[in-house]
Amino acid sequence: MPSFIALASALLAPVAVLSGLLPSNATLINTPAQEACHFLYSQMPNATHFPNQSFYITDNTNFWSQASALGPACDFAPSCAEDLGWAVKVLKHYSAPFAMRGGGHMPIAGFNNINSSGVLLSSSGFTHLNLEPNSKNVHVGPANHWADVYKGLEPYGLTVVGGRLGVVGVPGFVTGGGISFFSWQYGWASNNLVSYTCVLADGSVVKATPTNKFADLFWALRGGGNSYALVTDIEMKTYYKPAVTIGQASYGSGSNVSKAFIDAVHNFAVYGQTDDAKASIIPIVNAGSTSNGSLTYTAYRFYDGNNTAPAALKNFTAPSLPTLTDTFQPRSMHQWTLESDAAFTQTKGLRERFYIIPLYVDKQALQIATDTYFEMVFSALSSLELWFTGWSPIPVSERFLQASTHSNGHGVPDGDPMGAEPANYYWIEIALSYANVAEYEPIVTKLLQNVDAKIRTRLQAAGLEDKVSKFLYLNDVDEGQALWEGYPKANVRRLQRIRDKYDPEMVFTKQMPGGWKVADAKV
Ligand SMILES: Cc1cc2nc3c(=O)[nH]c(=O)nc-3n(C[C@H](O)[C@H](O)[C@H](O)COP(=O)(O)OP(=O)(O)OC[C@H]3O[C@@H](n4cnc5c(N)ncnc54)[C@H](O)[C@@H]3O)c2cc1C
Ligand SMILES: *[C@@H]1O[C@H](CO)[C@@H](O)[C@H](O)[C@H]1NC(C)=O
Ligand SMILES: *[C@@H]1O[C@H](CO)[C@@H](O)[C@H](O)[C@H]1NC(C)=O
Ligand SMILES: *[C@@H]1O[C@H](CO)[C@@H](O)[C@H](O)[C@H]1NC(C)=O
Ligand SMILES: *[C@@H]1O[C@H](CO)[C@@H](O)[C@H](O)[C@H]1NC(C)=O
Ligand SMILES: *[C@@H]1O[C@H](CO)[C@@H](O)[C@H](O)[C@H]1NC(C)=O
Ligand SMILES: *[C@@H]1O[C@H](CO)[C@@H](O)[C@H](O)[C@H]1NC(C)=O
Ligand SMILES: *[C@@H]1O[C@H](CO)[C@@H](O)[C@H](O)[C@H]1NC(C)=O
Repeated sequence: MPSFIALASALLAPVAVLSGLLPSNATLINTPAQEACHFLYSQMPNATHFPNQSFYITDNTNFWSQASALGPACDFAPSCAEDLGWAVKVLKHYSAPFAMRGGGHMPIAGFNNINSSGVLLSSSGFTHLNLEPNSKNVHVGPANHWADVYKGLEPYGLTVVGGRLGVVGVPGFVTGGGISFFSWQYGWASNNLVSYTCVLADGSVVKATPTNKFADLFWALRGGGNSYALVTDIEMKTYYKPAVTIGQASYGSGSNVSKAFIDAVHNFAVYGQTDDAKASIIPIVNAGSTSNGSLTYTAYRFYDGNNTAPAALKNFTAPSLPTLTDTFQPRSMHQWTLESDAAFTQTKGLRERFYIIPLYVDKQALQIATDTYFEMVFSALSSLELWFTGWSPIPVSERFLQASTHSNGHGVPDGDPMGAEPANYYWIEIALSYANVAEYEPIVTKLLQNVDAKIRTRLQAAGLEDKVSKFLYLNDVDEGQALWEGYPKANVRRLQRIRDKYDPEMVFTKQMPGGWKVADAKV
């Protein structure tokens, strides 16, 4: 680790002396971020990357949404926690704004990157993946994506309660909660963690567990967002699951398919997921600028184990819902990512948005919400050059949400910050992708707000207003949504006290403005 004394002496040196250490095209050094970058580079040149370097270019563009490619003054990507802690001290010294990135999948501009007024701290150097031989816990560096984790664990027949697709990043996922195909059995991904190693706002490195003196911090990092610490290692429980049965099915289009699909989703939410927690689905209604107004229906189906015809999923196959194509088959989670991740090349280079509409299970409410969205989306987006959307009414079960409050033999049974009321839901996740044109943002924002308002109005007219839940899942919300209002007030206050205890100067709130900040919650 570079000496901090070097910082003190270098600060006394004129900038001209320091600039000799820099790439020569760096001209004026006049903002706090530029000064901090110069100092980071002078002490740790191999971890400090400037805009003309390939590491920087990858880190600044490898985002799910290109709206995040903001162009920081520099990118600091250390490979050990102590170096990240040192960088936090340097950034504080220079009062340089900064952002923290993990896998880069949160599609809210400015939540995982920063423009040239700031420095990007990157998780990309933390690539470790180590299995503990005795406990079989796995230490996951936050540079990993779930595909890397599944691949590393496959030879042991092990897996973790992690992402449903391999492309997704790890640190944002777990600190925001984390929905896995295994969550119906074991709860949130963050309910299956053993420890977090992290950097505090004073630059120190601590390991937080459910029982040590940082237990409060550990709790906050299980769904409370990024106001408390920067994570450098995630220790997870593993489960022996050499094979799961998983695949993607397409059902085509038309009104018969539409009806059978909504029936199957609804029945799964009421019966399938409650009868058998090993089953899980991601149903998706798809449309886009090239679909000529028509909708197509697809689903990911998952079953824990080798059963290729589980009763809980039978309504997603013939005779109820005949498949046009189907890849449902036993394999490892790693093998699954090889199939599923291939599809994501088509979204590269686009802008993306998420928006969530959470409903308590009710078929009429689901139908109204679905019809409303597809009535509005085509005309609202007709001026966009390219767009496509997935409307996913993801069933979530009472048992899933009980797993972190009840000791069921798995995970951490002391509750989590999110405190979602155990019930059967559809958390309808809207995913919208469109060409990388900044002028499209207000058009999309307006559509999403109008859709939300219209759905509420129509549900109210049908006497179904109580079917709208207040709980919004952090990793699937859009920027304007009232995230903290869906958390229990007592949990929000506890999160605020934990934030105050570990970061009294609000470094990770004010100097690192991007992300969901509990200080913004009104309680
Ligand atoms: C294709 C796709 C599939 C998805 N599938 C699922 C799914 O199956 N289940 C699910 O629950 N969610 C899913 N998501 C949502 C996903 O959980 C979020 O996008 C999540 O934030 C991704 O984590 P990340 O590391 O890529 O986040 P980033 O975008 O890098 O960061 C998200 C937030 O976490 C903070 N952060 C990042 N790294 C660190 C760190 N080291 N320490 C502290 N804070 C940090 C950032 O500052 C930012 O505020 C999916 C998203 C996409 C795009
Ligand atoms: C980046 O800029 C420096 C200084 O001008 C130069 O030496 C270096 O070759 C550049 N690197 C790339 C990849 O262009
Ligand atoms: C940079 O160099 C130091 C010293 O050799 C080393 O400890 C570190 O791992 C290297 N890489 C990064 C990304 O920091
Ligand atoms: C960078 O972002 C800040 C905060 O959003 C904004 O005030 C500033 O104008 C931006 N600067 C540039 C150069 O885009
Ligand atoms: C839709 O279902 C009706 C009633 O079962 C049937 O008569 C009709 O042929 C079906 N249409 C298509 C396109 O399959
Ligand atoms: C399948 O659908 C039928 C109605 O067609 C319903 O009675 C049954 O409960 C459903 N089964 C599951 C597991 O969803
Ligand atoms: C698009 O839809 C219209 C109306 O349903 C239809 O007349 C037309 O043939 C369709 N075009 C294509 C290319 O499918
Ligand atoms: C599934 O089948 C594979 C291959 O036959 C076997 O290795 C594995 O143990 C089975 N898994 C389960 C959960 O039955």
